[in-house]
Amino acid sequence: MSMRPLSLALLLIAPALLQAAAPTLHEALVAVREDRAGDAGVARALQGLAKAHGTPLYVYDQAHIRGQVKALKAAFAPRFQRLRLLYALKANTNPAIVGLLRSEGLGAEVVSLGEIEGALRSGHAGPEIMFTSSSKSPAELRRAVALGAVLNVDSMDELGQVQAEALRQKKEARISFRVNPGVDPHTIHQINTGIAESKFGLHLQDGIAFRAYEKAKAMPGIRVEGVHCHIGSQITETEGYALTARKMMGFVKELKDRLGLRLAFVDLGGGLGIPYKDGQEVMSPEDLARTLEPIWKEGVAAAGYEPTLWLEPGRFFVGGAGFLLARVNTVKQTPVKTFVNVDAGFNTLMRPILYQAYHRVRVLGRSADPVTVDIAGDVCETGDILAEARTLPRASAGDLLTILDTGAYGFSMASEYNSRPMPAEVLVDGDTARVIRRRGSFGDVFRNTAR
Ligand code: LLP
Repeated sequence: MSMRPLSLALLLIAPALLQAAAPTLHEALVAVREDRAGDAGVARALQGLAKAHGTPLYVYDQAHIRGQVKALKAAFAPRFQRLRLLYALKANTNPAIVGLLRSEGLGAEVVSLGEIEGALRSGHAGPEIMFTSSSKSPAELRRAVALGAVLNVDSMDELGQVQAEALRQKKEARISFRVNPGVDPHTIHQINTGIAESKFGLHLQDGIAFRAYEKAKAMPGIRVEGVHCHIGSQITETEGYALTARKMMGFVKELKDRLGLRLAFVDLGGGLGIPYKDGQEVMSPEDLARTLEPIWKEGVAAAGYEPTLWLEPGRFFVGGAGFLLARVNTVKQTPVKTFVNVDAGFNTLMRPILYQAYHRVRVLGRSADPVTVDIAGDVCETGDILAEARTLPRASAGDLLTILDTGAYGFSMASEYNSRPMPAEVLVDGDTARVIRRRGSFGDVFRNTAR
């Protein structure tokens, strides 16, 4: 009997089998995170993305973002009767991402006129916005008051300016004060915001914040709604939050007892850290909620009423959802090191050079022959090293790398330095990838210039 019918059948079946084994884009991203980037199917899925959209490319996994929201809600909603979550837009301002978080019921925490615009474009109404910044311009104050946003006031100067603007618009400005609780949550110095020497907030110390409330309470045009603090970013332990919550709830009681002031909300800020290294232990939302619950309940009992607890994370929602795809241009061995030169740099991802931040790197479709290399960017500065001394499977020119956990403060801090257009962004939902920002052009780089 001839073998032909059998081989024919195999030929027909093989592609179907291959197809069944091919991961979806979402599954490929999960696999990369789980250190299975060497897998051929995983590599193929992401190579397809790179081919379709070019590199460097920011890829975001929608399922991850939704999962983070779900985890935070699951930890906090059962323990805190009144809870409101906001998303800090600065982490990633793409309207598709902001809109996604809005569809999950989150409000918007913004820090500039541009972010106010971003929140509005993503579907937010003015009153869903909280505007925090330690230095607001007259135009920013005007817009925030007109929209009915909550202004998070940072100084007595600003309080006067907000009042003047509200009276001019014949409106009541909704405000909270950002207070500086004087707590050190032990994170990167530049993002350690709640320590006494930071530029942020009115200090609880020496009755400064108290006197601000005393004054604001009696001011026409000002409606005091809450109190706010934010002690820092990428916080991995619960202690700083516990200390802060105790101080904040003590303050809530003081405002009630001495001024008869009942606040609608207490905002404990954002800052929830994410693991950037394999195996890194980071507090979970559950850990944080469990720590805060008794402090909150005690505070509520002492004050005699329950404000709404507000939280406003950025990184926690979007950080782990982001994967930066970069192509290897060349590999070079010097007498000292081996450099893998890629087509992204600190113009694309600033965190490594700015904070010595660690981001995992995975080589797609390679698993053999580990070598210790520096992943070097394409910016003409010695400091442009995206990852230092990493032992990775040997990569060569043309290979694809992915840099993990780049969904927060990746694109939002990127620039066109060295006249490189901004990267594109795609949002992955299952097996589809939607372009949510087209790649920049040279026209963009030179827009608004004259010669
Ligand atoms: N609320 C306020 C008032 C903030 O200043 C920040 C961040 C957040 C919320 C959100 O913090 P998150 O939950 O994302 O930690 N570029 C730095 C992070 C700077 C954070 C500044 N403020 C980085 O790449 O690590």
